[in-house]
Amino acid sequence: MQYWQRRSDLRWSHRAFNVSAYYGLKNPPFKHDALEPYMSQRTIEIHWGEHHWGYVEGLNRQLEKNDTLYGHTLDELIKVTYNNGNPLPEFNNAAQVWNHDFFWESMQQGGGNMPILGLLQQIEKDFGSFTNFREKFIEAALSLFGSGWVWLVCKSFVE
Ligand SMILES: [Fe+2]
Repeated sequence: MQYWQRRSDLRWSHRAFNVSAYYGLKNPPFKHDALEPYMSQRTIEIHWGEHHWGYVEGLNRQLEKNDTLYGHTLDELIKVTYNNGNPLPEFNNAAQVWNHDFFWESMQQGGGNMPILGLLQQIEKDFGSFTNFREKFIEAALSLFGSGWVWLVCKSFVE
């Protein structure tokens, strides 16, 4: 058992007579070698067991010192600590925890499926074809410095 797996069970801490909520390290919903050859087991273990774990630990350490932020969901905590564009010290760790959670939930062995129905129609409307969208999406990822982690966001379907 790795050290970060044991630490992931620490969701609650009892200090004095208070019970304080802490954020836990979510496990990726797949085996660590499931994304090979596109993402190696070593890469998963670095991003999950080191980066993600570090952001969770850092956030929990910060929250130990600021109990006014207890009781929020992670989404709420990000909004609160964003502080109308003047981020509090907890914002970066909270946002990175969310970003890593979202990343793991977005990946699956064998890749994603072809979009269907309204999403496919919107992609075809906005990009001309799914093939053209795919080319632009890959181009965006390859031209992004660092991780190449890009998203397609659909705010609403437009007629
Ligand atoms: Fe990472």
